[in-house]
Amino acid sequence: MTDIADAAIDILRENDRGTYTVPTKGLYPFQWNWDSCLTALGQRHFDEGRAWTEIETLFAHQWPDGMVPHIVFHKPDDGYFPGPDVWATNRPVPTSGITQPAVAGFALRRLFDRAADRPEAADRARALLPKVAAWHRWFYETRDPAREGLVAIIHPWESGRDNSIDWDEPFARVPTEGIAPYTRRDTQHANPEHRPTKEQYDRYLWLVEHFRGLKWDTSKLHDASPFRVVDPGFNAILIRSAADLADLAETLGEQEIAAENRAFATRGAAAMESLWSDPHGQYLCRDRVTDALIDSRSVGGLLAAFAPIPAHRAARIAETIEGHGMRFRVASHAPDDPRFQSKRYWRGPTWLVVNYMIGDGLARAGQTDAAEAITRASLDLIRTSGFAEYYDPHTGEPLGGGRFTWTAAMVLEFLAMAD
Ligand code: GLC
Repeated sequence: MTDIADAAIDILRENDRGTYTVPTKGLYPFQWNWDSCLTALGQRHFDEGRAWTEIETLFAHQWPDGMVPHIVFHKPDDGYFPGPDVWATNRPVPTSGITQPAVAGFALRRLFDRAADRPEAADRARALLPKVAAWHRWFYETRDPAREGLVAIIHPWESGRDNSIDWDEPFARVPTEGIAPYTRRDTQHANPEHRPTKEQYDRYLWLVEHFRGLKWDTSKLHDASPFRVVDPGFNAILIRSAADLADLAETLGEQEIAAENRAFATRGAAAMESLWSDPHGQYLCRDRVTDALIDSRSVGGLLAAFAPIPAHRAARIAETIEGHGMRFRVASHAPDDPRFQSKRYWRGPTWLVVNYMIGDGLARAGQTDAAEAITRASLDLIRTSGFAEYYDPHTGEPLGGGRFTWTAAMVLEFLAMAD
């Protein structure tokens, strides 16, 4: 074990609350959806049983309609805003009312494939399989009403890339007036210059209040939202998870789940092609309200490589990343765009989870050099700057929260790859 492996394990243990892990103390005191699934991949390196528990806890709070919420508020903590009283979702254990990138299917398969304890892995994977399948079904039923094969997000927080430049235009349609007065907590834990703006926060809350007014009926929210965006990164994660869930279901003899998820993945991968931009060398978001592509070269369009995309597209994505010229790839937005900000959250900085998923996709597509370059840059970054929430892609300056869970988890994965 190297020093950074030991440090990563320390962080994962420190943020472990028994059956779930908080992203970091203070800033994020609850369980987050995609954080947990990726965190389990780190936990498996030192405690496989605990890794399964992480995902099981998340799915214990799945809604009856199949949605898996983006936050589970296990215990009260007023260090975070908006808390359970703002969401008011009326769940036994309070949760938020929106979702997050569906990386669970991928995580499940990876945990299963690499498990040392095979019988335990089969039992635990079999129990989770129908729950993940119900989540995928919910996505295609509620977020793809026209059956395009691609789902829309209805709140920027669902993408996991909260303040990406991708949302600027469609988000301008969301009002800022009429929301209840509030006090942000995030800017008390982290530098406000590196976080979303007040105007963005007003709009985040307008949407929450709007959905709350519709009593969180998830069958109504898509059509009722002024913000509906088809994000290639979000869809790529769902498509990859559907493909992985299909493989896993086949191995475990669950043919119906396998067939259903194979169909989601095949249809989704074909539909992704409509988001490709040749001049930009990457995929783009589509605004589902106007039906136009959004001219924003963010990392969502590179994260598309996580899905089974055509090999020549993966090759082009590898070139686009190289073209950014950033030492600590992958920048969350194209650095030559005047809107790029190297330190502001999802408008430029590097995030290790994104590096991991892009690297994994590129390796699968045969882009070995590009994938190895990402692994090397990521480990370099940690050795230079420690375990932050995100980093300046050029200088490697650590930004946002410290001792960050999913960063630590990804380090254990990268180290295993580099071995
Ligand atoms: C921020 C990130 C989101 C993440 C959460 C917890 O909101 O944008 O992707 O899940 O923090 O780490």
